[in-house]
Amino acid sequence: MAAQPLDVETAWQLVLQAVNRSDVTLGLPESSEAAVRLNGQGAWHLLHPATPQAKDVLSLFLPLCKPLAPGTPSRVVGQLGQSLDGRIATVTGRSRFINGSDGITHLHRIRAVSDAVIVGAGTAMTDNPRLTVRRTQGPNPVRVVIDRHRRVPDGHHLFTDDEAPTLRLVAGRYKPRAQATLCEGVTEVPCLGDDRDRETVNPTIIIQVLADFGLRKIFVEGGGVTVSAFLRAGLLDRLHVMVAPMIIGSGRPAFSLPEIDLLEDALRPRSRLVNLGSDMLFDLDFS
Ligand SMILES: NC(=O)c1ccc[n+]([C@@H]2O[C@H](COP(=O)([O-])OP(=O)(O)OC[C@H]3O[C@@H](n4cnc5c(N)ncnc54)[C@H](OP(=O)(O)O)[C@@H]3O)[C@@H](O)[C@H]2O)c1
Repeated sequence: MAAQPLDVETAWQLVLQAVNRSDVTLGLPESSEAAVRLNGQGAWHLLHPATPQAKDVLSLFLPLCKPLAPGTPSRVVGQLGQSLDGRIATVTGRSRFINGSDGITHLHRIRAVSDAVIVGAGTAMTDNPRLTVRRTQGPNPVRVVIDRHRRVPDGHHLFTDDEAPTLRLVAGRYKPRAQATLCEGVTEVPCLGDDRDRETVNPTIIIQVLADFGLRKIFVEGGGVTVSAFLRAGLLDRLHVMVAPMIIGSGRPAFSLPEIDLLEDALRPRSRLVNLGSDMLFDLDFS
């Protein structure tokens, strides 16, 4: 009898097994029958039939599971969910829900394979997000909010729900620590320079701070200002842009980068298009 093809849920179980592992064969959750071979160099081979959607889950997430060798750079993945006209929210900041149910599940999956999830103060203030993994199985990442002016209200979920540790990055000079310890609850880390500055800081300092806490698989979840600062600094390895079939016509932009005159100077990363169901995903590879 022909083997039942792997479905999306089984593929996701295999992804969770693959986190921080290489050069190993992953078995089916129920039977331990060999399903995926990781070759240690980041490549993988399917040893079992799978549905097209299950193959998409494996091909999108297995590259994000590969362990990082000591001393190598952090891995940084950004995401934005946007309308066809490149907006991530209305002018008043409403973004729930541009993306459909499949897009939101995808977002939770990226959280589940990341050590830390970062949002800007604008998103933390407006959305009052939890940044936990609820739409799928997997661990919660450490939550990080870039809040130089401490403008995110202290009563917001990130600071009160104790679902996962939260790092609140604020103004001040960073005092590097060899191995910083993550505490339960909220830890304030001064590292964002002078609080009178209005320009965003180069996020290289943020990657360094998180590495000092042992957090090296980083997910930059939004909003547009925050993801753009990482993109401008050349820090993103991958960017997942989820496009919803919707035109808002005005509102907050996804990307804001310095002006260019020639299209030859536009960013043209390697890209792959994946149909998530409710949204089209552009998986952009800057590595
Ligand atoms: N559709 C989506 O995928 C998505 C995802 C997330 C959010 N959103 C929506 O997007 C909107 C917010 O996005 P946004 O672009 O306006 O703001 P944002 O990126 O969430 O936050 C920007 C603010 O964060 C701080 N910040 C970020 N990077 C910094 C850096 N490198 N250095 C210093 N400070 C930094 C600054 O705060 P200060 O100004 O205090 O210095 C900055 O003004 C909300 O309406 C939210 O609902 C949509």
